[in-house]
Amino acid sequence: MAAPKIEPSRIAHATSISDVPLEDRYALLIEAVHDYAIFMLDPSGNVSSWNPGAQRIKGYSHDEIVGRHFSTFYTEEDIAAGKPARELEIAAAEGRVEDEGWRVRRDGSRFWANVIISAVRDSKGELLGFAKITRDMTDRVRLAELERASEVSAQVQITRENEQKRIARELHDDLGQQLTALKMSVALIEATLAANAATAPLVQQTHALQTEIDAMAMSLRRIASDLRPPLLDDLGLTAALEWLAEDFTKRYGVVASVHIATGELHFNEFASTTLFRIVQEALTNVARHARASRVRIELASTADTFSLEIEDDGVGAALDLPPGSASFGLLGIRERVRQLQGTVSFISSPGAGFHISIRSPVTSVQ
Ligand SMILES: Nc1ncnc2c1ncn2[C@@H]1O[C@H](COP(=O)(O)OP(=O)(O)OP(=O)(O)O)[C@@H](O)[C@H]1O
Ligand SMILES: [Mg+2]
Repeated sequence: MAAPKIEPSRIAHATSISDVPLEDRYALLIEAVHDYAIFMLDPSGNVSSWNPGAQRIKGYSHDEIVGRHFSTFYTEEDIAAGKPARELEIAAAEGRVEDEGWRVRRDGSRFWANVIISAVRDSKGELLGFAKITRDMTDRVRLAELERASEVSAQVQITRENEQKRIARELHDDLGQQLTALKMSVALIEATLAANAATAPLVQQTHALQTEIDAMAMSLRRIASDLRPPLLDDLGLTAALEWLAEDFTKRYGVVASVHIATGELHFNEFASTTLFRIVQEALTNVARHARASRVRIELASTADTFSLEIEDDGVGAALDLPPGSASFGLLGIRERVRQLQGTVSFISSPGAGFHISIRSPVTSVQ
């Protein structure tokens, strides 16, 4: 199923395109297109033709790529999730499939692609293979807009984080100090009251006041650390996650465990906050929806890829249902992952727990 060969003798004497035989015209058209990768796959997904657009976009020459499986163009995480095979299955069953996502060039760099795969069948309906058109959207306005929107939303998040940090600090330093001073004053009054037999019965009340002040101080600490966990700034992401898991276990009785296999990886501040907020939202979902008994949080990295898995053993959910109009948690996670140039999969079905799987280039988190 190679691309139709252009027969030079057939077009040598052409003075206009209408002099060129029809089949050569199509071949010339495909050869002339530089903005789209247009190529064919055999029924098992091996590349069987290649055009200059494909070479320009993906970086492989005709001889390097023909015969190789088209999953070469997908990210590691999409391959692990079985995406290439699934796309061929859908194209075979429904005639075509369209997808937008990260693809990988020959040099390993990623580009945002719009991909259409169409099944090609003979007159008897036998599958001959697939026609695949890939458009590099990276330079397009659409991605520029997406990036601008993403930048704005990242900026909004950074501003909000800074604001929360400021409020948390004020609560702790200002109101916290005042509560401590108040408690000391009440303790002094208590000592005075206790010293006099006539006022001694009032000690019980001042004691109750002190207990109330302690409870207020505890609430204040909780509110401050919900706004911005001090550990995140002082000791970094892994310590903050361990604290979060411990606190979650205590609050909800669901055992949360953290497993770190990131070696010497040092997380930058944006990634630390982003990953912390993702885990926080995932745990909130576990508490609200999962009825789980345990949840496992795992961070790992290879030389190129960082991964975060959050997996619970709860009731799961049917993910094909349209999300409720007031559901922003998973959307927010998607947006945060995109800011790390990563990909996220939500894997779940009723009764099978809920699994969030995130991959991003290591360079985005360190
Ligand atoms: N760990 C989980 N176990 C079971 N179902 C879940 C889990 N996480 C999410 N879901 C399902 O996915 C839906 C969408 O989650 P999402 O976080 O986007 O929205 P939400 O939690 O309902 O609302 P919010 O916008 O306040 O986060 C939930 O309503 C729930 O049905
Ligand atoms: Mg939620």
